Amino acid sequence: MKKIVCDSYEDVCRYAADVYALQLKDKPDSVLGLATGSTPVGLYDELARRYSNGELDFSKAQSFNLDEYYPIDPSHPQSYDYFMRENLFNKINIAKFQIPKGDAKDPVAECVRYDALIDKAGGIDLMLLGIGLNGHIGFNEPAVSYPVGTYLVSLTESSIVANSRFFGPDEHQPTTALTMGIGHIFRSKKILLLISGAAKADITSKLFEGIIHTDIPACMLLLHPNVTVIIDKAANGE
Ligand code: GLP
Repeated sequence: MKKIVCDSYEDVCRYAADVYALQLKDKPDSVLGLATGSTPVGLYDELARRYSNGELDFSKAQSFNLDEYYPIDPSHPQSYDYFMRENLFNKINIAKFQIPKGDAKDPVAECVRYDALIDKAGGIDLMLLGIGLNGHIGFNEPAVSYPVGTYLVSLTESSIVANSRFFGPDEHQPTTALTMGIGHIFRSKKILLLISGAAKADITSKLFEGIIHTDIPACMLLLHPNVTVIIDKAANGE
């Protein structure tokens, strides 16, 4: 696992955008795995800026998002579908994007459908990840076992509290979600993990202990051959 420490969050986003630029140059029809949360927002801004300057072209690329609340209507402002359109898809020319359907009638069938789509696309070339305060990746929460395929997960108290900042006081916050399992994350050819802010310093230091703590899902990344962690000084405990 390679660690790149940047001076600031802005530098993290620029560095990550450079990785996308290289990826799309090498393989214009890349399959991109994308994440939500506050951490990738600056990267998405930078990608949109470079696209509008004519520096990036997503016209042959496609994407798969890691997760979505369930149940939630895709038009709900807190859905990850809405988030992705607002922060990225409405601003670039990506050929195709997929997000688990938060309004699917049958969540299990939706997971099977989503996995089949990823397989049909040939798997993910570049997977973007953030990390939860409890070490979750996507919505793979700390657990004793981790499904390989996409699944319906009950969110932990830690994630519900951490994400409550996005919901209004009277707004219903889902406590379950559909998330890509560990399998498709691991079959990704390259993984980019972005970490920013002092609040993530504890979980970051755990990750870099070089020990696979089984209750920290992100520690499994230590087993993947091509993971780059781009981190700011605050998250690095500096
Ligand atoms: C959510 C998402 C994760 C993301 C995490 C961290 O729970 N499901 O994919 O990594 O939030 O979010 P933030 O970047 O806001 O700390």
